[in-house]
Order: sequence, then structure tokens, then C-alpha cells
Amino acid sequence: MSNLKIAVLVGSLRRESFNRRLADALVRLAPEGVEFSRPAIGDLPPYNQDDDANQADSVQRLKREISAAQGLLFVTPEYNRSVPGVLKNALDHASRPYGKNAWQGKPAGVIGTSIGAMGTSMAQQHLRNILAYLDVPTLAQPEAFIQVNDGLFDAAGNIGAASREFVQQWMNAYLAWVRRHV
Ligand SMILES: Cc1cc2nc3c(=O)[nH]c(=O)nc-3n(C[C@H](O)[C@H](O)[C@H](O)COP(=O)(O)O)c2cc1C
Repeated sequence: MSNLKIAVLVGSLRRESFNRRLADALVRLAPEGVEFSRPAIGDLPPYNQDDDANQADSVQRLKREISAAQGLLFVTPEYNRSVPGVLKNALDHASRPYGKNAWQGKPAGVIGTSIGAMGTSMAQQHLRNILAYLDVPTLAQPEAFIQVNDGLFDAAGNIGAASREFVQQWMNAYLAWVRRHV
């Protein structure tokens, strides 16, 4: 099978982010031949349509990194029952200027973890709505709503025993979804 390039977008800038740890653990569940990039989104300016004709270097870099990827992996917390602003900001930036949507057609997966019992379900649903508009085909099933608990990660940072099989199955389905679209 040919190599796959996946851009991983993490919706948290927090140093000790559980979602970044989840992203790190997901990357380790992929077989050889899958390469992951981690585009930064914390250095993007607040989106301003006035700048569409003159996008900041950080925005141009993000768009190049998205364009170079064959698939998108969104790993995000839920903020106030929706997508964190930094992630929405990145989605808006790389969707513009009109007609130059870098996300278009890239197959995606959406996953996340939160301390709340609903495990980012509302944020994921809002994100799916945005991705539908951006013309991003997004894996529908299986869904993965993960609540943070003491055993979510083991000492090495891998997914803990209780969730490992579930998360591995999600990752397998996600990678199969990407391959179906490339
Ligand atoms: C501004 C803000 C809003 C939050 N809103 C929610 C929420 O709607 N649902 C939820 O389950 N957790 C919510 N949380 C708690 C997050 O689940 C928790 O902070 C989590 O650790 C964030 O993910 P991270 O560790 O990847 O940064 C919120 C946290 C913050 C800072």
C-alpha cells in the first residue's frame, strides 16, 4: 500500500492537553507507511476577511501543510459545548479566500476527549457541521466520545488497557476511510 500523509489538528493549546496526548497515542496506533504532520494553529492571527488577499505567513504555512496532506485527523476538546475558538479560527483561515478552500475533499476523522461524561460529543457534532460545509468527507461510524479518567493513558502514554481495543478499532476504521478517498 502506498504511503499516507495525515495532518493532525489538535484543538487545544494547553501544555498538558489530554487531547494532545490522545493525538500522540493515536499516531502510535497507525501501521508503518502512515506519516503524520502536526500543523500549528496557535500562532494564527484572529481571522479577518480584510486580510484574505494578503494572508499572514502562518496562515500560508497552515494552508501548505493541509494541501500536502491526504487526510485530516481532528482531535479536539469541547469548549462550552462547541469547538474551541482556536480550531474554528484555523478552519476559517484555511477555507479562504473564497474558492481556495484548503480543506476541500480531504477525508477526515473526528475524535476527542473531555473531563465531561459526554466526551466532546457536542463539539464533535458542531465540527461535523463545519466540515460538511467545507466539503470534507468525515467518517461517520464508529463514533468515539472519550471521557478522561485515570486509566485513559498508561505510563508510556499509550491508550490504557480498558480503551485500547476500542481506540485501535476507531483508528483502523479512520485509516480505511482515508484510503477509500485517495
Ligand atoms: C473554556 C472551557 C470550556 C469547557 N467546556 C467544556 C464542555 O462544554 N464540555 C466538557 O466536557 N468539558 C468542557 N471543558 C473542560 C475540558 O473538558 C477540559 O478542560 C479538558 O481538559 C480540555 O481538553 P485539553 O486537556 O485537551 O486541553 C471546558 C474547559 C474550558 C477551559
